[in-house]
This record gives sequence, C-alpha cells and structure tokens, in this order.
Amino acid sequence: MRKLRLLIILLLLNQLPLKAQRISDMGVAQQPDSVMQWFKDAKFGLFIHWGVYAVYGQGEWYLYNKGLPYKNYIKAAYPQNGNYFDADKYDPDKWVKLAQDAGMKYMVLTTRHHDGFALFNSHFPNSITSQQTLGRDLVAEYVKACRKAGMRIGFYYSVLSWRFPGYFDVNGTEAKPNHFGITTAAWHKQNALLMKAELYEQVKELMTQYGQIDDIWWDGGWLGLQGNDRDAAYFWESGKYRDPKNEWAGNYGVLGIDSTAGGRYLGIMGMVRKYQPYILSNARSGWIGDYANEEGYAEIKGPIRKEYWEKCLSLDKNGWGYTKKQNVLSLREVITFLVNVVIRNGNLLLNVGPDQHGIIPQDQVTVLKETGNWLHKAGESIYGATAGPWDPVDRQYGFTSRANKVYVHLLEGYKGNTFILPALNDRIIACYDLYTKKKLSYTVNTDKTVTIRNIDRNSNQYDTILEIVFNQNMETKNEDNK
Ligand code: GLC
Repeated sequence: MRKLRLLIILLLLNQLPLKAQRISDMGVAQQPDSVMQWFKDAKFGLFIHWGVYAVYGQGEWYLYNKGLPYKNYIKAAYPQNGNYFDADKYDPDKWVKLAQDAGMKYMVLTTRHHDGFALFNSHFPNSITSQQTLGRDLVAEYVKACRKAGMRIGFYYSVLSWRFPGYFDVNGTEAKPNHFGITTAAWHKQNALLMKAELYEQVKELMTQYGQIDDIWWDGGWLGLQGNDRDAAYFWESGKYRDPKNEWAGNYGVLGIDSTAGGRYLGIMGMVRKYQPYILSNARSGWIGDYANEEGYAEIKGPIRKEYWEKCLSLDKNGWGYTKKQNVLSLREVITFLVNVVIRNGNLLLNVGPDQHGIIPQDQVTVLKETGNWLHKAGESIYGATAGPWDPVDRQYGFTSRANKVYVHLLEGYKGNTFILPALNDRIIACYDLYTKKKLSYTVNTDKTVTIRNIDRNSNQYDTILEIVFNQNMETKNEDNK
C-alpha cells in the first residue's frame, strides 16, 4: 500500500510540472506530454492527398483555380464520366507498407479536401461521398490497413467546402473576391450555416465510426480564403468556448448540450475531444493546436523550438494532389529537411499524391524507399531522440540525443573532417561513425571542448552522423528543450 502511494506521488511529481506547461484555449486543454509522446518519438509521417482532383492531374486546387461550376467538376467522381475517380487499384495495405519501408510512423489521409468530396460514408443529406459514387468507404479501408500494421492513424479534414457559395459570403452581405464569380446574396448566410452543419456532422461521423484516431489534421480554416485560421474561429468554433451571444452558435443536432457550460453547445474541438480523448490536433481550425504547423519548402533555420511542431511539404513540388507533371524532391532534399526538423525537435509530414486509381507515382515511391534505406542506418539518431543538448548552427550541424548518447549531424554545409564539440563536463566513453561503426579518435581539450578527428564525410554526404557515448544520460540535459 505504501509502495503504491509512493508510486502515485512519483507519477504526479513527474506529470504535474509538464502538464502545467500546456495551454488551455477556448476551454480545451492541449494534450499533456504523456499523450504527445508518440508524436514526439515518431519524427516522420506520410501525408496523402487523394480525391476527385486526381482525375484532372493538376493538383488539389484545380476546381477553384479554374473557377469551374461544381456540377462540371464533380462529374469526374462518377462512372458515367468514363474517366473518373475509380480507386480501382487502391490498396491501403500497400500504402501502409510503403510508409513503413520509408521509415514513417504515422499517416494522415485527406478524408475530405476543399472540394467537399468525402472519402467516407456520411449520412448528412447533402454530402457527396465515395460511398455514393463507388459504393466504398475509402477511409474505413485505410483505417483497417493502418490498424492492422500498428500504424498511427491521422485524418486530414478541410473545414471549408467550395461547394457552398456561402463560404465566400458568410453574412450574406459582402462576398469575398473569388474565382467562381460568386456575388453577395442574403441566402448565403443560411448556406454558410449548412456548410457548418455538414462539417459538424461529418466530423462526428469520423470521430465515432472508426475506433481510436490518433491525429486530426484540420485545414482551410480561413474564411473566403482570407485572413488566417484563428480569425475565423468565431465562425467554425462557437459553442461554449466562444461568446454565448455569438450568432453562429447553433444546434446542429450533433453537438449535444454541455451541462457544465451553462447549457451551451460544444465547439468543434470540444466535440472532437469528447469522442476521442487522446486525439492530437494541429493548429488550423482556429483552436491553438496540440502542435504547431509549418508548411512548404522554406529552409528550416534557428534554434531548437520549445513547442511540439510539424513541418509538412509535398514530395511533388507541383502539388499536394496528383499532378501529371511530377517534380519530385531528391533524396538529398528529403534527408536535409528531415534532419533540419529533427535537430529542432519537430516532425516531418511528407506528402504523396496518388492518382485516380490509387497508385502513388513511381518517382515518389522511389525516393521514399531510398529514405527508408537511409533511416535503416540513421534511425537510432532520429526516432525517440530529443534535439540537443545544444542548438544547431544553420546549414552546418545540429544534435540529437538519446539515453547516454549524443549524435552530431554534420550537414552538407559543414566542411572538413574535424569537429569540435562544445565544452561539457560529462565524460565521453567512445565516439563512432554511426554508419560504419568505426571508432573515431578524440581529445578532450583544456577548455573542456572535445576535438573529434578523421571523420569520414563520405559515409553519408548529406548527413554525416557521429555517435558519442557518455558515461551518463544525456537526454535529461535537454529537459528545457522539450
Ligand atoms: C494548404 C492548401 C491545401 C493543402 C494544405 C496542406 O492549406 O490549401 O491544398 O492541403 O496546404 O498543408
């Protein structure tokens, strides 16, 4: 009994200060570190943009970019069209296997993108779904494949839907400029509410019909394609966490009254957490997010980041959704992005865009497999590691640590085959080249810096990794960097 009490006290001591660092926003608290742990350890995930837009082969913004009438665009979802989104080669087991081969630990699939076409079965009367067009719930098949393989499951969901003219004119008084030529009309306000009702209904379906989901990846929070996600939270969120007089708070049937909040309705994140207490959420619904997002190819620079964060980018530089003209990142680029993220405590979510049949383009497959081969050797310096104990130097090098080891990642920009480790009091036991496992000689200098010599820069030209073994745990040195 006394032992049990001690254990509980220890657990509390361990948890409380960490939990206290997490923030509460709109009445929903960020997940504690204990729930974030898998995400922190995972480092590398597969993003998949797949939907009707694949038929056109010009990326997922095709409908909007061309300003097409929706009825024309959506023909590509139906067999009558001949050339359509048939998903006939869709084999999610293969996708999961590819992600595993690439060394990825989680996956995020576009369950619905901005075009409003759902890859799952929805009972919302207005929805257009793969269940209707193909008689298949593609999300259910994806979930099954992930779960079978122990792969963490993420759902991307776009809150906005271009199907609704009200999206560009939520108040029905002033339409935002748009490619569809939509001008203002009073009925758009009702239409915007319908869009919102569909969002709540569908998210409830996603959160209740597929078992435990690990990650909800919001997108498209910005209203009328203007401002940012946070600006639009008043519209999407509402409910108990917002101003109770907010006119957008309504009864969508699915929200349920929260008795602890004076009879007001749950907001979108309140609902998500009600059904999925352990789910993580990104920062793009207007809610603060359990982790921050950074999108695109901008070079990653600066010190180790204190928050949980994820960089997302597409392997095909021409689009997230399938494009006929592929322009795929090289292995060199993928490794450089991944290492630069990891030495700053982030994750990389790397996107593929399968075609209308469900085939991932060969160039994308090739570079993923190459990345997997590299991770096979470099993985122990990546997975489960913590950035640090020192800040990286842009384009030159950075550090990760695990248990009693520190890994030095020498990037392409670092020249020479000698490296001086910053001053430290801890005792080094040995030093290796991680790839060849060859011992490297080193000397401890009088100022406590350590000079490592004869480094083979060809063992990997994009990321030479030195493995330094200490006589004590080095990861705890990073507690501040979490
Ligand atoms: C942008 C785009 C979208 C893409 C997303 C991925 O928000 O609108 O098409 O899915 O980025 O991060």
